[in-house]
Amino acid sequence: MGDGRYSFVVVSNRLPVDRVEEEDGTAAWRRSPGGLVTALEPVMRASGGAWVGWAGQPDIDLAPFDNDEVRLVPVKLSASDLRLYYEGFSNDTIWPLYHDVIAQPTYRRVWWDRYAQVNRRFAEETAAVAAEGATVWVQDYHLQLVPRMLRELRPDLVIGYFHHIPFPPYGIYSQLPWRTQIVQGLLGADVIGFQRVADAGNYARAVRRLLGYRTATGSIEVPQDGAPPRRVVAKTYPISIDTAAFEELARSPEVQERAQQIRRDLGNPATVILGVDRLDYTKGIRHRLKAYGELLEDGRLQVGEGETVLVQVASPSRERVEAYMQLRDEIELTVGRLNGDFGTISHQAVSYLHQGYPREEMAALYLAADVMLVTALRDGMNLVAKEYVAARGDEDGVLVLSEFAGASDELRQALLINPHDIAGLKDAILRAISMPRDERRRRMRALRRRVREYDVARWSRGFLADLEAVRGPAGGPPAS
Ligand code: G6P
Repeated sequence: MGDGRYSFVVVSNRLPVDRVEEEDGTAAWRRSPGGLVTALEPVMRASGGAWVGWAGQPDIDLAPFDNDEVRLVPVKLSASDLRLYYEGFSNDTIWPLYHDVIAQPTYRRVWWDRYAQVNRRFAEETAAVAAEGATVWVQDYHLQLVPRMLRELRPDLVIGYFHHIPFPPYGIYSQLPWRTQIVQGLLGADVIGFQRVADAGNYARAVRRLLGYRTATGSIEVPQDGAPPRRVVAKTYPISIDTAAFEELARSPEVQERAQQIRRDLGNPATVILGVDRLDYTKGIRHRLKAYGELLEDGRLQVGEGETVLVQVASPSRERVEAYMQLRDEIELTVGRLNGDFGTISHQAVSYLHQGYPREEMAALYLAADVMLVTALRDGMNLVAKEYVAARGDEDGVLVLSEFAGASDELRQALLINPHDIAGLKDAILRAISMPRDERRRRMRALRRRVREYDVARWSRGFLADLEAVRGPAGGPPAS
């Protein structure tokens, strides 16, 4: 739109690209980490809308600019905003609380105050770029107060919110000192989307317990003074990937050749086991290393030519949050021990990579891996599992998948595991390694059918159709 206002606006903490300083002092843009960007990038490219978010560096003033046919509108965050709102409340209160308190959440009033302030800033900047009657789609746990703030600023907008991470059971959620404000913040949306049926159920229960509102399957009635209640849709829309694009990438001769090269570089093992995660305590990397280490110790697996190697990609994440620093130390100590105890001059037990990689390299790694381990202790969806399946056009490879990842609701033909059950995890790894070709093919075919049919376009279509259905019959502002 020529007037700098857009009829479709996505809002998330991060923009799809991060501004980084090169060694020579110049600035460059790099793709942002995580599943949110993976899913939304293709949706946005197709929509021609605007994307409001933070550009990945503190204290920089940036004018809106175009990237891949999407208008990016940077929100400025100061170093102290990042400490209190992003590292503090978002990633040291909400993240551990919503992931079943795997790590202890910290509750600090100054973090909460700043979270509310920064959410207001996002709401104001969004209000400034949204055209009359626009559709605004707010993303994820950093911005849970934005839907309500935005509705107050701009009652003409149609507002969606998608929650990419789990929503915890009430017994856990109720710890949060600001539990009522957050529940109300989300209710400012017309449609609230969750990954799993359990997440939507947990949220509806929190609404009933805290506000006493009536809920039915898939919707909540919000009482209004002197008017009929406003109906908020709150249901499940499992997120996915751009399956066709990923398949095509994995089919390219460069990626196929690179996959073979990776196996050669690893010293031609018979079995490549792969883990790909942000370095996060929710991902169960410790449990995975424990199971693998015990298999080496028991002599049920060996390291060397024609034997086994575990490739673990752990991309750097939230490196200034204490729990992440500790996790990194623990993982690297364990990897060092495993390589010291079981490696040889020419072969490592674990090839550990603390780096992020471009999509091409990821696709090659998936193709090179006989077994993919996804052992999350809690995960909203886990798009790595879906990418692995999409990459395997050869209908080979075995996915070992935690039942605590949202993806396990759909990917039923994976080997489903409980990552806390180390004996069960060890057996599943061995079963994956020795699975006959026929069974591998049968399972992978079924998984591929699912991921092809339920791709990210279907996810966004489903969500946005429900959002558009909220509009009045004349296509005007929502009838509420
Ligand atoms: C998860 C969250 C995203 C987040 C991503 C990367 O996928 O759901 O909202 O962007 O992790 O984390 P970061 O803190 O680096 O943005």
